[in-house]
Amino acid sequence: MFDLRGKTALITGSSRGIGRAILLAYAGQGARVILHCRKPGPCSQQLISELVTMGADFTAVYADLGSGDGAGELCRQLKEQNISIDILVLNASVELRREWTEISDREYDLQMDTNFRAPVKLLQALVPAMQEKGWGRIICMGSVQQLKPHPAMLIYSAGKAALENVVRSLAPQLAPMGITINCIAPGAIRTDRNSQALSDPDYERQVKNLIPARYIGCPQDIAGLAVYLASRESRYMTGQTLYVDGGKSL
Ligand SMILES: NC(=O)c1ccc[n+]([C@@H]2O[C@H](COP(=O)([O-])OP(=O)(O)OC[C@H]3O[C@@H](n4cnc5c(N)ncnc54)[C@H](OP(=O)(O)O)[C@@H]3O)[C@@H](O)[C@H]2O)c1
Repeated sequence: MFDLRGKTALITGSSRGIGRAILLAYAGQGARVILHCRKPGPCSQQLISELVTMGADFTAVYADLGSGDGAGELCRQLKEQNISIDILVLNASVELRREWTEISDREYDLQMDTNFRAPVKLLQALVPAMQEKGWGRIICMGSVQQLKPHPAMLIYSAGKAALENVVRSLAPQLAPMGITINCIAPGAIRTDRNSQALSDPDYERQVKNLIPARYIGCPQDIAGLAVYLASRESRYMTGQTLYVDGGKSL
């Protein structure tokens, strides 16, 4: 079960955090993996070394999804290398904390472009090849915030809710073609984006108190479900949102 050999998986934002854990898990299951982030740096380099050590089949692509036509640039690089995607994980996102009355146009655009516009453009560009093959797996990375929005993250949480709506809209349209699309909604997961905030013991305690499991998850807590949703075994599940959050959404 959960064998991904013969499949090619693009995971956006896979240099670090949850995306990285998913990419390594897919490589471990035999998939050809496409690493993506904004530009080459220490994190992508370290991950590439790890993939080489594993003997994984991989390619790296670089595109900023928050500026210009980042999604188009990513697809251009895939096309140049003749890569057709079977498994698409729309994971990259930007999250800015700001009192809702103070959100600037720039902050609005950056979050909506990266978290919503680019994923939709990637779906438009990459789903037709899945339709031709009659097989595809799409995972949108949501958040517990699509259900319980953080007061200082109005645009981020609304963008995640919008992406969940895309999942519900596309699932019935794509199901007859053998393509599933689902949403994973993580709760608090310890990654670079929250490491500074969680280094304050008082804040960490507050966060843990809101989680029935009483601990903060790690990226590997998401990877197992991402493997299932990418596999042949999940063929009968589509249009769903699955909360992986230690019970925070309850
Ligand atoms: N961590 C949590 O507690 C949590 C909770 C709920 C949902 N999530 C969701 O889970 C996903 C992963 O979160 P994470 O915590 O693992 O994130 P992270 O550690 O902050 O990593 C973000 C990844 O996205 C890439 N990225 C950011 N902005 C980009 C842009 N403009 N263009 C291209 N790539 C970009 C980063 O690439 P670079 O290396 O180039 O910056 C990096 O690979 C996100 O969708 C997030 O909303 C996370």
